[in-house]
Amino acid sequence: MKFYSLLVKGAFLLLYSAILFSCNQKTPEAQGKWIKGTEQEKIEIIEKQFRGFDNAMVETGYRYQELYWAGQDENWEYADYQIEKIKIAIENGLQRRPKRAQSAEHFLTYVLPEMKKSVESRDTVVFNKNFQMLTTNCNSCHVMEKVPFFTVKVPIDRQSPIKKIE
Ligand code: HEC
Repeated sequence: MKFYSLLVKGAFLLLYSAILFSCNQKTPEAQGKWIKGTEQEKIEIIEKQFRGFDNAMVETGYRYQELYWAGQDENWEYADYQIEKIKIAIENGLQRRPKRAQSAEHFLTYVLPEMKKSVESRDTVVFNKNFQMLTTNCNSCHVMEKVPFFTVKVPIDRQSPIKKIE
């Protein structure tokens, strides 16, 4: 009798642990075509693909030129658009590389808003004066961030495919 009750108890224990085990089993983690691995590994792959500050700067360099020609064209809506996108590119870059935030502070809180005001003035003379100030501040951040060899100068040649409709 004792033997049978032990057997029944044992069977219940086995069943119980089987249920527990099946509940504990995790669904397999989603895997992409090339973003694969553990959760940690996948996050690292994504972060690497987003890059650091360099791609924020490649974008800023392009938009800086577009901004300039927009001002020469008096295409103020386009100019305004480019200022907004420069802001976003730099802010996103800082989220990826927060150590650069201090050097960017003056640029984001003073230089870009001033540039925006000059666009609102709808006056190319004011715009060009501010564009010089913008350029100086691109370079001062490059000095602060120890990359002074990225010397920004006001564009001379026009590559922009966007032109104002006459
Ligand atoms: C946070 C300060 C900061 C500001 C503000 C800034 N830059 Fe930069 N810039 C950098 C740093 C740092 C690099 C080097 C990036 C790297 O090493 O990842 C760089 C690199 C560049 C590059 C080279 C990118 C490449 O990889 O080819 C260009 C172009 C550039 N900046 C343009 C500009 C222009 C134009 C402005 C102003 C509208 C500007 N930058 C404002 C910090 C700044």
